[in-house]
Amino acid sequence: MRLIAPAAFARGAPRYSATLTRTPLPGIHTGRRSFSASPTSNDAIAQDDKKKLLIVYHTMTDGTRQMAQAAYEAARKAESPDSPITIQMLKARDAGPEDVLSASGYIFATPENLAAMAGIMKDFFDRTYYAALGKLNGRPYACMICAGSDGENAMRQVDRIAKGWRLKKAADGIIVITHAQTAERCHAMKTIEKPDLERCAEVGEALAEGMAMGVF
Ligand SMILES: Cc1cc2nc3c(=O)[nH]c(=O)nc-3n(C[C@H](O)[C@H](O)[C@H](O)COP(=O)(O)O)c2cc1C
Repeated sequence: MRLIAPAAFARGAPRYSATLTRTPLPGIHTGRRSFSASPTSNDAIAQDDKKKLLIVYHTMTDGTRQMAQAAYEAARKAESPDSPITIQMLKARDAGPEDVLSASGYIFATPENLAAMAGIMKDFFDRTYYAALGKLNGRPYACMICAGSDGENAMRQVDRIAKGWRLKKAADGIIVITHAQTAERCHAMKTIEKPDLERCAEVGEALAEGMAMGVF
């Protein structure tokens, strides 16, 4: 996975200092090595002043939920009273324009069904697209797809909507293949393997840390 260094980072993150502590997470588009954020003040940051990473997902047989949950739990490592970010995970059917507008970064996670993103995920975008259009420019996002055998078209669809919103792709998209190609397998509950959950966790952690640092 690749990292992209946005101009904003070159200008510096005003309130936080970075300490390089780990090896780079592959595929995260920051251009920086990964880091931990340490606030320059001991003051806890008011909840309203925090930047929110919003994870929106839909699932039918639980695969996508496990992926989103892995990203959420990893992202929450960057959450503390001193941290400038907060993490929210919402089902697509429960997410609306206010949730999108109040967030500063996004992870969109959906199954691929019938060579498209799941209908409920599309409904989320349908309900929020114009309310948010022109107001999210430059904010970071990542996309995660749970698919029986493909997933590319669902990814393209999400990326196209994100492009319309002028979001910035912060990490390579993730497609997790669940090998569901029969009716029986498609409708069976899924268990996502650990290496795939780890890929999702890397994206969640990197977005959260990047947002905390002002990288994106
Ligand atoms: C009606 C239906 C259509 C599907 N179409 C596709 C498809 O076009 N491409 C694909 O890769 N997987 C397809 N699948 C498989 C799902 O993507 C797979 O079961 C995935 O694990 C669903 O994610 P979930 O567990 O989060 O619901 C389909 C499944 C269903 C039920």
